[in-house]
Amino acid sequence: MGKQEIQIFDTTLRDGEQVPGCKLDRDQKLRLAERLEQLGVNVIEAGFPISSPGDFAAVAEISSLIQHTTVCGLSRAVEADIKAAAEALATAKYPRIHTGIGTSDSHIYDKLQTTREKIIERAVGAVRYAKSFVEDVEFYAEDAGRTDNAFLATVLENVIAAGATVVNIPDTTGYCLPEEYGAKIKYLVENVKGIDRVTISCHCHNDLGLATANSIAGIQNGATQIECTINGIGERAGNTSLEEVAMIIKHRLGDLFKTSINSRMLNPVSREVAHEMGMAVQANKAIVGDNAFAHSSGIHQDGVIKCRATYEIIDPHEVGVDKSLIVLTARSGRAALAYRYKEIGINLTKRELDSAYKEFIALADVKKIIDDTDLQMIWNNITVAVA
Ligand code: KIV
Ligand code: ZN
Repeated sequence: MGKQEIQIFDTTLRDGEQVPGCKLDRDQKLRLAERLEQLGVNVIEAGFPISSPGDFAAVAEISSLIQHTTVCGLSRAVEADIKAAAEALATAKYPRIHTGIGTSDSHIYDKLQTTREKIIERAVGAVRYAKSFVEDVEFYAEDAGRTDNAFLATVLENVIAAGATVVNIPDTTGYCLPEEYGAKIKYLVENVKGIDRVTISCHCHNDLGLATANSIAGIQNGATQIECTINGIGERAGNTSLEEVAMIIKHRLGDLFKTSINSRMLNPVSREVAHEMGMAVQANKAIVGDNAFAHSSGIHQDGVIKCRATYEIIDPHEVGVDKSLIVLTARSGRAALAYRYKEIGINLTKRELDSAYKEFIALADVKKIIDDTDLQMIWNNITVAVA
């Protein structure tokens, strides 16, 4: 059997962009949409057209610009939202309307103050209305992570009968454990009539740091689309990180699954998103953080210098990073020091290395990171002393 292609639904420009301080202007959105298409995502969720005239215009322009990728617009299960999304997507080559409503008891009784019956009615009405504009309609069951599985199955059965092409199972609050989320997808696969005709999508938030693990559990149990963002940005603690799922699938699940992501663009696109949004990436972020391919302890550095794979499971070139870094700190050893001197064109003898190491370690105890200028200064000191 061939590998199952996992559709990558990027929501950087919608769930990511709604983060405080991350708002993008029209030109920034257009630039990033183009980059996302080059990166190889299957769906670009371009925005929430009813939310503001600016977002409407951005979705409309992205729709005209993007030629090969599905462009999606978000809406609530409200006719005005759906109509605005349809109008904004009018010029898209492959338009998708994403509509939905809360299905957990908390959303039904506390937020929407309605009943389960009314939720099904509104869900079906929204999908039917969206279908009057476009063929491709994705339905989200907001807070599906905390929704009773039997009720969720009933909602989905109804929206599939109404014409939904994709059913999105959001863990909106990042509540689920991977086993639970995987079991939820399995339950839906086994219990929802017609689900074999549609795409099942995972949309996981990271409140407990489990968004990526939950999305992976989702595909291992029958989902074939993952909704994610560059750098994992998104509401509160963020969404599933695109770069993480792309590399997990490539490196650990490649026998079963594949994506169309060009992994060499991951680092450059991550930097562009961070720059455009003014949202720095944490240094220890998997795949795209500054330290993802940096080695600072002597034990690790010695291993990596001898053979990169001792402490790196991914070749940095594969994700668009020039090289692994050997960072000199007070925890570094002689092997790293000699290696870094070699990088600046100085091949130390054993005696020179011993002298340099003494000076280096004294300086490293007071200065966090030793750079090339420090190395040059130490070299000048020891060559004067040796002479
Ligand atoms: O987290 C969520 O439930 C969402 C939906 C609007 C898809 O972002
Ligand atoms: Zn979300």
